[in-house]
Amino acid sequence: MTNRSYRLRGVRITPAQQAARDTLWEKYGVSFEESQIDLDALFPKKQPLVMEIGYGMGEATWQIAKANPHINYLGVEVHMPGVGKLMARLAEYELTNVRLIERDVFEVFYYMVKDESLDGVNLFFPDPWPKKRHFKRRIVQERFLSEVAAKLKPGGYLQIATDWVPYAEWITEIFSQTNLFTGGVIDRPDWRPLTRFEGQGISKDHAVNDFKFVKA
Ligand SMILES: C[S@@+](CC[C@H](N)C(=O)[O-])C[C@H]1O[C@@H](n2cnc3c(N)ncnc32)[C@H](O)[C@@H]1O
Repeated sequence: MTNRSYRLRGVRITPAQQAARDTLWEKYGVSFEESQIDLDALFPKKQPLVMEIGYGMGEATWQIAKANPHINYLGVEVHMPGVGKLMARLAEYELTNVRLIERDVFEVFYYMVKDESLDGVNLFFPDPWPKKRHFKRRIVQERFLSEVAAKLKPGGYLQIATDWVPYAEWITEIFSQTNLFTGGVIDRPDWRPLTRFEGQGISKDHAVNDFKFVKA
């Protein structure tokens, strides 16, 4: 079985984003390796470590990192265009508590992340894959839960937001089948910045649901 869960769509990256990525990679990028690494050593200060999976254009990433300098953030994203833009923001605000990996999170978990090394995982607006024949591509699956649980420290959390009500129902269903986590729907946390996905107008199927699960 391959560890790659996700196929790259046509990758488009503007020259400005590519230039930012090339210049700033050394500072913020973490090269994929097929071996476990000391994640704490990637940052100037050892402090709680939160992974953000699928940061997209990184709108939430830099804002959360800026507001929480006492937490280290490791962003993992497969689709490259956002990397340069996010790195430019990190440089603009001189943030030192963010590092980024360009890779499928399942490969990152499998090879690079030691068990019980993360204090939290953020998953904001995962691809909803609305068609039934694509449900198997949804990132929230039994396998995802068990891998996240393995990588979280005892008491660590998984925070999810989705703007697709049928996906919120799916999340509730998948988590009801496991005893790895406790938790469920919560009020929208005020620390989660408003991203493009939420700004797009809330309709019946697009109400935003936030979840918080704690490793049992
Ligand atoms: C709908 S976008 C949301 C982006 C961002 N979190 C936001 O709120 O604007 C979902 C993102 O997850 C990324 N993604 C999907 N599967 C992934 C995986 N297995 N590993 C890493 N990133 C993944 C996609 O490339 C995409 O950028």
